[in-house]
Amino acid sequence: MRKQLRRADERLRVALVTGACSGIGRALATRLGSLGYELILVSNRAAELAATAQEIGAAHAVVVHTIVSDLARPEAAEELYQVVRDKGLQIDILVSNAGFFFFGEAVDASPERAKAMLQLHVVTPSLLCTCFGRDMRERGRGHILIVSSISAWRDFPGISYYGASKKYLRGFARALRSEMAVYGVKVTCLAPGPTATNLYDTDVVPVKRAQRLGIMMDAGTVAESGLRAMFAGRAEHIPGLLARIMTLFSVLVPQWAIDLLRRRAPWLPKRKGAP
Ligand SMILES: NC(=O)c1ccc[n+]([C@@H]2O[C@H](COP(=O)([O-])OP(=O)(O)OC[C@H]3O[C@@H](n4cnc5c(N)ncnc54)[C@H](OP(=O)(O)O)[C@@H]3O)[C@@H](O)[C@H]2O)c1
Repeated sequence: MRKQLRRADERLRVALVTGACSGIGRALATRLGSLGYELILVSNRAAELAATAQEIGAAHAVVVHTIVSDLARPEAAEELYQVVRDKGLQIDILVSNAGFFFFGEAVDASPERAKAMLQLHVVTPSLLCTCFGRDMRERGRGHILIVSSISAWRDFPGISYYGASKKYLRGFARALRSEMAVYGVKVTCLAPGPTATNLYDTDVVPVKRAQRLGIMMDAGTVAESGLRAMFAGRAEHIPGLLARIMTLFSVLVPQWAIDLLRRRAPWLPKRKGAP
């Protein structure tokens, strides 16, 4: 039988989770709340955030703070750090999870969407790690959980912005981990495979069916597995056997097969006159 998930270090009391009002972030926050951590939940929708905080606080009798912030703005990370300081809180566990997804060719991406993705997946998480990580280094303890994706392992057409930004996060997490290990701060990269959340447009991705078929995991299982890896101080973790097999397959598949997939893929535009 698997050991019960429990708090690893009693000195760690406060956890901040970005993108906490739905999907994996909400599941991570709920589980951290159930372990007794005081929470700071961050997201860009005030009503959903307040409802999530109320629910977690009531269910687990923990203090839950909320900060409404659009983390896709250039100044978001430093602003968030200042708001947390002004509240007199210090972060022991930083979970950088907020993200979004769009599918299509890079040349079709609107500049606004592309910039928002790079801010949200690259600039904001890096600067959150810089700001909160500096304080953790000073205290000589803390956990940082960075949510990347299995798409960080191989470059696929149709997700150029998404995949490359998740690859950045994976690389950043690895380097940060080496830097912080000597100070007693543990950094873990969580790389989920397909997970049934609001990330996907259900007109395009049949989320419910994929979950029923076991192709998509549920957010609670991903969160539980991710927190286990974080408390164990693991460098990288892909929850679920199927996701691990998919990742291995994606690394092994030859480039010509990926190029062929791109030419045949019904979900991407065809070149005029192409067979
Ligand atoms: N689902 C998957 O298959 C999968 C696979 C691999 C990796 N991931 C990663 O897992 C993370 C969580 O995604 P999810 O699947 O749980 O999707 P989700 O349910 O859509 O959750 C994403 C969260 O990020 C927040 N967010 C989005 N844009 C934001 C912004 N500009 N400012 C602040 N918060 C923002 C969302 O808040 P609002 O709802 O308020 O916008 C939401 O709480 C993402 O980083 C995603 O890339 C997901």
